Amino acid sequence: MNQGIVRGGGSSVSAMNTTASPRRYLMCRPTHFAVTYRINPWMDPTAPYDNALAVRQWESLRQTYLDLGHTVELIDPLPGLPDMVFSANGATVVDGRVLAVQFRDAERADEAPAYASWFRERGFTVIEPKHTNEGEGDILLAGDVLLAGTGFRTSHASHAETQEALQRPVITLQLVDPAYYHLDTALCVLDDTNIAYLPSAFSPGSQAVLRQLYPHAVIANAEDAAVLGLNAVSDGRTVVLPEQATHLAGALRAAGYQTVGVDVSELRKAGGGPKCCTLEVRA
Ligand code: ARG
Repeated sequence: MNQGIVRGGGSSVSAMNTTASPRRYLMCRPTHFAVTYRINPWMDPTAPYDNALAVRQWESLRQTYLDLGHTVELIDPLPGLPDMVFSANGATVVDGRVLAVQFRDAERADEAPAYASWFRERGFTVIEPKHTNEGEGDILLAGDVLLAGTGFRTSHASHAETQEALQRPVITLQLVDPAYYHLDTALCVLDDTNIAYLPSAFSPGSQAVLRQLYPHAVIANAEDAAVLGLNAVSDGRTVVLPEQATHLAGALRAAGYQTVGVDVSELRKAGGGPKCCTLEVRA
């Protein structure tokens, strides 16, 4: 694939029900990307990785957002923080209020103040957390509510703190599959009223909650999830997702969304996809 971009159709009738809104994203160039430790099952510090390829794939993702009319802002990558490219873990931002993060793992701890400073320097109100939360990796705005994952990284205690800080109802979802350790690896918010997800990544109770809230959800299969297909970014009409997730792309188009496939396979070696590289700034 020349540019790592595949553009899918979106001309079905139901596509007219979905509206795109321009987004403001914060990204971090993977200048210092590496796989030198293992804090999730995708990471193998003994396997080869290609930093230059990771940078090219990331540039292509950034260009995809620009082509779609979105704004991309950048935070300076810091040496010694190989996972800083995963900006989704840097904060959760709703209505200009920023809930800063606290990482579970020491390897990523120093990213938290860097992201908090980026927001403070731009005049945002930053709320410091008392409990472990890994930002939009586990906390996703879906219309008026926040869907919040727990089980591996973000603590359950942080969910109450998140509701107080961001002033939106928080719905707790229990993650049960170590491969899908962040909510954004198992669930994608498509628009204000719908999501795509992998049921088996959630506890039986959380599956029932998701069925109740989203009866028309797009259901991903195991192959989609295994290429981090659900780690996708939607603007309400176009879903940017790993190009390897062909079944999910088809299901999304059948549901009326447009799809754009990107290749970020090098970043997947650290357990991340397009969404992990993208923090939405809702000013
Ligand atoms: N290696 C990183 C970690 O384990 C990957 C983070 C992926 N980010 C995400 N939003 N799912 O923390």
